[in-house]
Amino acid sequence: MHIKSAEFVMSNSDVTKCPKGLLPEYAFIGRSNVGKSSLINMLTSRKSLAKTSGRPGKTQLINHFLINKNWHLVDLPGYGYARVSKNAKKTFQKFITQYFGLREQLVTAFVLVDIRHDPQPIDLEFMQWLGENGIPFSIIFTKADKLKPNAILRDVEAYKNVLLETWETMPNYFITSSSNETGKDEVLNYIDELNDN
Ligand code: GTP
Ligand code: MG
Repeated sequence: MHIKSAEFVMSNSDVTKCPKGLLPEYAFIGRSNVGKSSLINMLTSRKSLAKTSGRPGKTQLINHFLINKNWHLVDLPGYGYARVSKNAKKTFQKFITQYFGLREQLVTAFVLVDIRHDPQPIDLEFMQWLGENGIPFSIIFTKADKLKPNAILRDVEAYKNVLLETWETMPNYFITSSSNETGKDEVLNYIDELNDN
């Protein structure tokens, strides 16, 4: 798919204020610093459409981006950032629960995990929660540029083994790098297919 236009629409903390209308949308979620905002920039070939930072906790709001005038990409705040207060964690949980509960426009979520890390309970629990709530998702392994090809295969295999302890089948997944554009066509083609359905 060719991205002809990518525009920032709005940032919200209140899900009910997110764009009205039924344009299909795709949300990026995962731990702080996993690379959600960078991935949005990579997919859209825009350097700083979504704000990124080396410090976790950069994205704090629900950010909608309009792509090719007919669908939305959504950048969400990260979870699991240890230095966030208990109160902030609660607010975030509410926010996310509402986002996934209320956005009928959501076609699928992309759950990002850093390919270098062992499966983390917080990610596994989040995927479980999506599953229990009937929210379709794919996994996106990020930062593949940090590993050699055989290490990527080994880590994905290890992840699969853990997931298959609770899931009947391995969820759909992609291997990506925002630094060298690995996975760009695969993710965009997948969205394209879903948009056509
Ligand atoms: P929050 O908004 O804080 O939840 O973080 P985020 O998930 O949006 O992460 P962000 O895109 O801001 O990236 C976090 C850090 O990881 C930045 O320093 C990025 O440059 C780096 N990063 C993101 N993607 C990649 C990647 O594919 N490869 C490498 N090497 N670094 C990456
Ligand atoms: Mg971010």
